Amino acid sequence: SQRPEERPRKQRLLVVANRLPVSAVREGEDSFHLEISVGGLVSALLGVKEFETRWIGWAGVNVSDGVGQKALTKALAEMRCIPVFLDEQIVNQYYNGYCNNILWPLFHYLGLPQEDRLATTRSFQSQFDAYKKANQMFADVVNRYYKEGDVVWCHDYHLMFLPKCLKEYNDKMKVGWFLHTPFPSSEIHRTLPSRTELLRSVLAADLVGFHTYDYARHFVSACTRILGLEGTPEGVEDQGKLTRVAAFPIGIDSDRFIRALELPEVQEHMKELKERFAGRKVMLGVDRLDMIKGIPQKILAFEKFLEENPRWRDKVVLLQIAVPTRTNVPDYQKLTSQVHEIVGRINGRFGTLTAVPIHHLDRSLDFYALCALYAVTDVALVTSLRDGMNLVSYEFVACQASKKGVLILSEFAGAAQSLGAGAILVNPWNVTEVAASIGYALDMPADEREKRHLVNFKHVTTHTSQEWAATFVSELNDTIVEAQLRTRQ
Ligand code: G6P
Repeated sequence: SQRPEERPRKQRLLVVANRLPVSAVREGEDSFHLEISVGGLVSALLGVKEFETRWIGWAGVNVSDGVGQKALTKALAEMRCIPVFLDEQIVNQYYNGYCNNILWPLFHYLGLPQEDRLATTRSFQSQFDAYKKANQMFADVVNRYYKEGDVVWCHDYHLMFLPKCLKEYNDKMKVGWFLHTPFPSSEIHRTLPSRTELLRSVLAADLVGFHTYDYARHFVSACTRILGLEGTPEGVEDQGKLTRVAAFPIGIDSDRFIRALELPEVQEHMKELKERFAGRKVMLGVDRLDMIKGIPQKILAFEKFLEENPRWRDKVVLLQIAVPTRTNVPDYQKLTSQVHEIVGRINGRFGTLTAVPIHHLDRSLDFYALCALYAVTDVALVTSLRDGMNLVSYEFVACQASKKGVLILSEFAGAAQSLGAGAILVNPWNVTEVAASIGYALDMPADEREKRHLVNFKHVTTHTSQEWAATFVSELNDTIVEAQLRTRQ
């Protein structure tokens, strides 16, 4: 075996995302409580062993004093995280404002905010300025930390301005950008006042990735129609410079879920749930409480199903886990009350003294409880109005090896492209169709359930998050080698 000093140094991968995989809460002048969150991106990168990964991002806390910043930087360093400090005003304008009130709804086909057009137009510019400023702050941290040979992988709609800022610092930097949301039709994108600047900035990257081929195609169309550039099968070309554009569908760390099901804690949870809901079929929804998830539409479809199928009324229960998110944005506050109102009405209508048809939880579950819930579910309802990918559908399938339950999946989730063969695909806006699909799923014969489950289980266990990350980064490395060869020719 090689001595350590002879081993080639691993390439460093700098992952830049708005949110670090660790969020901090201040406890004292120089002490912080750190909470790790294992989201899709984190588990994807945990499995990638060939790189030395570092995270750069916001820790979700406002720390403006030097003592605090130093202490948090030190605490995060142990977790290979490097913080970007954003003050309250920037967070409000960049994160709550431009990211979550403008880009997020627009990319999910919900349009630009319309309440007060003039006010929106005026604040639009200041929010976009804050967005650029925030992106520049991320770039400053990356640039301070960057060493020659590192790969920089920027993530999501929060950081569309980052590739340009990074290349301005150093045009040799290897920069990839990946979007976790849909990229909408160019007709939607062109309504955005800053459409041109954002596209040009993303094009500064060497490789641009999306979850589906359709999103990649929409992006290329936006560049050709709005910027007048040339689209090629490889990507977008601007004066001889090619930005490679491709689809890289993400997956999950399926083994982590499959292994968890064997644990005594999870088995115990499963036993409790089975006893609690004995004699009833369990339907499940797990979503962040976000407009794009179509929670009200889903619950209304469930109501229609109960209305039309009295025989099912005391034989089925819908468990809806709604994880609070972006609670400072007014649209999210409105959604919470709307969902509560509908759930209350339906439970009032169809509940009995001993049981209600919908259990609605405004919180997240811990990983073990979630795995148990996935495993005992008969029918999962993923009815997003739009969704970049939707990994809940993947997690459900991974936990269903013994039950072989049914997945009802929105055709507007990226996952419909990969799990469409085994799922029942629905248009979530069509409440009648979703209600009928619930009936079909609950009555589905075992052999059909098994057939459908097996195709999806195979997909979920072979297209993992680790493979996704490794493919993107190796493609980014290759893209740069190819570009160097082209310029030498
Ligand atoms: C989506 C986005 C992520 C984001 C996550 C949670 O999945 O694509 O970038 O981190 O939602 O939202 P939050 O605003 O809490 O970070």
